[in-house]
This record gives sequence, C-alpha cells and structure tokens, in this order.
Amino acid sequence: MAVPILAQLASALDGTRLSLHVLSAAVWVGGQLVLAGLVPTARTLGDEAPRRLARAFSRLSWPAYGLLVATGVWNIAAVAHGQSTTWQVVLGVKLAVVALSGLSAWLHTRARTRRALALWGGVTGVSAVAALVLGVFLAG
Ligand code: HEM
Repeated sequence: MAVPILAQLASALDGTRLSLHVLSAAVWVGGQLVLAGLVPTARTLGDEAPRRLARAFSRLSWPAYGLLVATGVWNIAAVAHGQSTTWQVVLGVKLAVVALSGLSAWLHTRARTRRALALWGGVTGVSAVAALVLGVFLAG
C-alpha cells in the first residue's frame, strides 16, 4: 500500500526547479534587505565602505537575478499550462514587478545623489519583496 504522504512530495525535477528559484530569490531579495540593514554600520568603517559593500553585493545579486529569470521561464514551461485567468493575471503583474525590481536596482547603482539612491533603493527593495509574495501565491 502506498504511503499517502509520498504523493505530496515534489518530483526531483520540480524540487530542483523550485529550489533554484527560491535560492536565487533568497539572494536577490534577502540580500537587499540584509545589505540595507548593514549600511549604517558600514558607514562607521569609512566613506567608501558602503559603496564597496554594494559593489561586492552586485557581483552576487545580478547572477541571482539572471538565475531567477531563467528558472522563472522554466517555472512557466512546467506549470503555466491550464492555469486560470486569475493565475495568468497574477503572473503578468509579477513579471512587471520583476522588471521594475531589476530596473530600479540598476538605477540605484547609477544614482549619484542621496535622494536618488534612497528613491531607487526603496523601489527595488519593495518591488523585490512584492515579486517574492506574488511568486508564493502563484505556487499555491
Ligand atoms: C525578483 C524576481 C523573482 C522573485 C523574488 C521570485 C520569487 C518566487 C517565489 C518565492 C516563488 C514561490 C516558490 C515556492 O513557493 O515554491 C515563485 C514562484 C514562481 N515564479 Fe518567481 N520570482 C521571481 C522571478 C520570476 C520570473 C522572472 C518568472 C517568469 C519568467 C517567475 C515565475 C514564477 C512562477 C511561474 C512561479 C510558480 C512556480 C510553481 O508553481 O511551481 N518568477 N517565484
């Protein structure tokens, strides 16, 4: 007799797909939140410290963003077929939010005034968290 709980486990392929998607989301979203929390301490280490920390984070966060897009396309190929209109609308909103998150992160790295840094930093942080929440709703 089959053990019922096994029927609820993801297959190895689905587990790999979602693990890579969630791991890269952890770096892109969680990394931004952690970095924001570290900036006040970094400032006490010197004027250049926050910028150098941000540059080091960029070397991790952009590959993570690339992996999010790649595994996101894989997600769509795996689960989008036969989904409701609501699911498709939520996916469309999520893709717009993901694009905003990437664009605002890029504008943040190019900002030269404190005001622009704060604005684009805020937009990228909020949109990254929104993309994560919408993703959780898509996964059901
Ligand atoms: C900032 C970028 C992104 C973040 C933070 C993010 C985050 C997430 C999270 C946390 C989940 C839920 C996973 C789970 O609960 O198992 C998810 C699911 C999903 N994501 Fe993303 N994601 C991003 C980008 C993308 C992109 C670019 C696409 C499409 C090209 C995409 C398509 C999907 C789909 C279709 C699901 C549902 C997967 C399923 O039901 O198996 N995501 N996302």
